[in-house]
Amino acid sequence: MPTPSSPEIRPIREDELEAWFEAFTTAFYIWHNVAPRAMAEARRPILDLDRAIGAFEGARSVGTFRTFGSELTLPGGALVPVNAVTGVSVRPTHRRRGILSAMNADDVRRAADRADAASVLIASEWPIYGRFGYGPATWAARWTVRTRAARFLTAPVGDVELVDVGAARQLLPEIYERHRASQPGAIRRDDVRWDFELGIREWPGRPRWFGSVAIHRAPDGTAGGYARYHGEEQWEQGIPDNVLILDELLTANPEAELALWAYLVRMDLTATVRADTRRPREPWVWHLADARAARQSRLGEMLWVRILDVPRILSNRAYDRSAELVLEVLDEVAGRPGPAAGRYRLEASPDGAACRRTDAAADITLGGDQLGAAVLGGTRLVDATRARPPVESRAGVLRELDALLRTPDEPWCATWF
Ligand SMILES: CC(C)(COP(=O)(O)OP(=O)(O)OC[C@H]1O[C@@H](n2cnc3c(N)ncnc32)[C@H](O)[C@@H]1OP(=O)(O)O)[C@@H](O)C(=O)NCCC(=O)NCCS
Repeated sequence: MPTPSSPEIRPIREDELEAWFEAFTTAFYIWHNVAPRAMAEARRPILDLDRAIGAFEGARSVGTFRTFGSELTLPGGALVPVNAVTGVSVRPTHRRRGILSAMNADDVRRAADRADAASVLIASEWPIYGRFGYGPATWAARWTVRTRAARFLTAPVGDVELVDVGAARQLLPEIYERHRASQPGAIRRDDVRWDFELGIREWPGRPRWFGSVAIHRAPDGTAGGYARYHGEEQWEQGIPDNVLILDELLTANPEAELALWAYLVRMDLTATVRADTRRPREPWVWHLADARAARQSRLGEMLWVRILDVPRILSNRAYDRSAELVLEVLDEVAGRPGPAAGRYRLEASPDGAACRRTDAAADITLGGDQLGAAVLGGTRLVDATRARPPVESRAGVLRELDALLRTPDEPWCATWF
């Protein structure tokens, strides 16, 4: 029998969904003026009950943990199945008794059984997930553009066209698929998500999206990117200084990105374009005559990656250089070796890579969280290991692995979940 300190951890039943949302909302205590019943009703059709986990003390849910299946794009464009974690909470009266640790151990077992290559999440607080083998792998920032100082040196190619919500509902999922195929760090989006992104449906307690959608068309007519945006009106002494809030601008190629930004900064009545969850380094700002017109702020980590299947990840991602080394990955779940624990021989080159378990002596021993942080190329391994240096059996191997894992383009996850 579970004791109060070891609650029962299991998927919830349909009739427990409302209580599950009640527990979740109590932990976050931001109620958004929505009853848990309304949340349960809205989410039920799109939520996998087998993957909505509760920690139960008797009949009462004291912890929540939900996952859904997704796909992560690796450097080079390979797609691997991942376990996306969300809805994590523990009742305030039950904190720091190991309930999250127990739910995490349960989740690692389930994800490894499904043969997911990694787990991914967005953390509410930095210190929570490192101990569970997650590392901060992609980064995001706000960009603020002073439109009147933004002049482009490069003429955009193609056309920008405004589309209504019906056309956007057709076009955006397809453009997004092409975006994520070439964007390391991107994850698959469920089709239903577009109904909410485009304001066709509304989450209880969240404002319905209203705005404009612009599409970029290449000279051959291919739709290569979109911008969703709305605005905040602002007038100063009779001068219009509106803020254009860019909800999302995603493209399948740099030409579409440049053309859409050029379109946005030329908007009448507008002093500022503001965009969140962008890449820390935006390539298009290098097309500005004065790059100070675009400023980055609010830099923070976005996607945390916990590797479950080391060979699958390391042999499927692309590398810009060659190296051969044996790495030992430290991974522990609830006091026992986790699925990533072990020694692996990695033979990597720009032509491909192989990674398999080995008994050979390790050149470098490092934490699974540190490898997870660096594996997409968004965090440098030398940074992820500064406070806990790896064991190096030969000089310079950390630098070698650091250089190997780096990528020319930054990984980027623009999808909140
Ligand atoms: C974060 C949360 C789920 C942790 O649950 P919990 O059951 O208290 O976690 P555990 O008892 O299993 O903690 C395991 C370890 O992580 C540490 N830890 C847990 N939450 C932490 C936090 N927010 N900051 C720093 N350390 C934390 C604990 O101190 C403990 O450390 P120890 O092993 O050295 O003793 C819970 O505090 C919560 O619901 N917070 C509000 C909602 C939230 O932020 N959810 C996460 C969404 S991503």
